[in-house]
Amino acid sequence: MTTHTAALIGKRALVTGASSGIGAAIARELAALGIDLVLTARRRDALEAVAANCQGVKVDIVTADLGKPDAARTLWADATANGPIDILINNAGFGYFHRFDEVDWARDAELVQLNMTSLVALARCFVDARKSRKASAWMVNIASIGAYQSVPNMALYAASKAFVRNFSEALHDEHQGTPLSVTCICPGGTATAFHAASGGGDYSWLANASTGSAEFVAHAAVRAMLRGKRTVVPGLFNKVSALSVRFVTRRFASRLASQVLGKPRFALPARSTA
Ligand SMILES: NC(=O)c1ccc[n+]([C@@H]2O[C@H](COP(=O)([O-])OP(=O)(O)OC[C@H]3O[C@@H](n4cnc5c(N)ncnc54)[C@H](OP(=O)(O)O)[C@@H]3O)[C@@H](O)[C@H]2O)c1
Repeated sequence: MTTHTAALIGKRALVTGASSGIGAAIARELAALGIDLVLTARRRDALEAVAANCQGVKVDIVTADLGKPDAARTLWADATANGPIDILINNAGFGYFHRFDEVDWARDAELVQLNMTSLVALARCFVDARKSRKASAWMVNIASIGAYQSVPNMALYAASKAFVRNFSEALHDEHQGTPLSVTCICPGGTATAFHAASGGGDYSWLANASTGSAEFVAHAAVRAMLRGKRTVVPGLFNKVSALSVRFVTRRFASRLASQVLGKPRFALPARSTA
């Protein structure tokens, strides 16, 4: 299903994690297509700065901490108070680049809640709301290239992204032939605040050399969404990397991921609760 962009003017998109990085870049891409926005994250001031760059469309801001149980359903109620949502961009997420046993359980619980449970809750609200509607709708879930193999020192993060990828691909298949399209995006290393927050950012030369921009990922994500793609890995190096794991053992792929990232060197910053 390829969508002509004229048909998108006046549609309404909910973008999670819209206050920075890939989510902010997706918000700008959608605004350029004439799509009204509901932007959400925890930091209102950062959301307002993104909204100021989304000219010519209506922008609502709803702050929410999706690391907390039940926040997703409250967010959905707030986001739909001014009209239906036609496009759901499930982008908010975080990870940490450290051994599993070196990190607080509270951080793991938040990761599971944000990267998986809240994403599923929003997906469910969206699918339920679209059931009785005949108009086209789009869901984009942001996974990661980490979804393609286990990643030592990013164990829980990579597992959460494998979950997002499998969940999204199954939803895509369930909705074949319906007006709802589900696309999974698996970015490789992208230059955003993610790395400083994860205690990463000082990886091997290969990981550093293959890092792309948030704008590149956002453009690829919106294009894939409009073409009704199932899964897209933006960037040639990342595509080759995702493909090549099919030809090696899972243990070798995991070791390779560990080599590409290198060893954790930075202390983990305190998690922002802004
Ligand atoms: N950067 C990469 O190399 C890379 C690679 C593959 C996949 N990804 C994925 O891309 C997505 C976006 O990440 P990014 O790279 O753009 O990182 P980022 O710049 O750190 O953005 C993360 C976004 O998530 C929001 N967020 C974090 N915790 C939240 C919470 N508890 N409740 C609500 N919102 C929360 C943040 O906003 P607030 O702080 O204002 O809440 C921010 O808007 C994530 O799912 C990430 O896993 C990133």
